[in-house]
Amino acid sequence: MNGSTAIVAGGSGLIGSHCLRNLLADDRYEQVVALVRRPLAVYHPKLKQKTVDFNRLEHVVEFLRADEVFCCLGTTIRIAGSKDEFRKVDFHFPLQLARLASSSNVRQFLMVTSLGADPNSSVFYNRVKGEVEREVAKLPFSAIHFFRPSLLLGNRPEFRLGERIGARLMETVRFLMVGKWRRYRAIRASVVARAMVNAARLDLPGVHYYESNVIESMVKTNGAESSR
Ligand SMILES: NC(=O)c1ccc[n+]([C@@H]2O[C@H](COP(=O)([O-])OP(=O)(O)OC[C@H]3O[C@@H](n4cnc5c(N)ncnc54)[C@H](OP(=O)(O)O)[C@@H]3O)[C@@H](O)[C@H]2O)c1
Repeated sequence: MNGSTAIVAGGSGLIGSHCLRNLLADDRYEQVVALVRRPLAVYHPKLKQKTVDFNRLEHVVEFLRADEVFCCLGTTIRIAGSKDEFRKVDFHFPLQLARLASSSNVRQFLMVTSLGADPNSSVFYNRVKGEVEREVAKLPFSAIHFFRPSLLLGNRPEFRLGERIGARLMETVRFLMVGKWRRYRAIRASVVARAMVNAARLDLPGVHYYESNVIESMVKTNGAESSR
């Protein structure tokens, strides 16, 4: 299939920037639309940037006509400043994007959530991720892909102490993380982004959930295998 259009939300982030790069380099896509808060210093003939207020996504619905949406939005409670603000970015914005995309006949919705996503979790972060998955999964897309990475590895412009400590710890115990523990291994953001683009290419109908161990294999085999 040639001439697809992809939308990326969160294209300035760690996974999102890799995702954007992969999509721009992929001949399958004729146009890539980045929904951004601030213009990105990325220039490419296929790239169209649309500055949006994510609180008012319905005002840019004409930019949501596409074949696929890649949602890499997210924040942390520390950066957002409160649980409510975190929930806005990790639940309300992706869900509103998915709802508008679904009513614009987008075929596939690909979204990063997290390992441990569970609407019944007692951990606030995991619960929000699980709740957004549950609501997005109800929408009538041809395919929905949820990527549930463990700790992300990659270079960020800002310093995140928790992630640095986590990455060191993971590195120390990596050799112990085999079998069912593989899903807890830290994973490169570039690998998650590559797996998202690979999954879109396969165009498998249905709702799919991928944890880190599966995400790794999707990049090695250039294929997709649902963990559920
Ligand atoms: N960090 C980890 O180890 C980890 C592990 C598992 C899952 N995840 C999940 O993976 C996803 C991607 O993570 P990441 O580390 O790649 O994210 P990131 O680097 O923090 O980037 C987040 C993206 O969301 C956008 N965003 C944040 N707040 C926003 C707001 N109020 N309005 C509009 N856009 C906003 C950012 O845009 P600006 O540049 O404009 O701020 C950026 O493009 C997230 O959902 C995260 O929860 C992360």
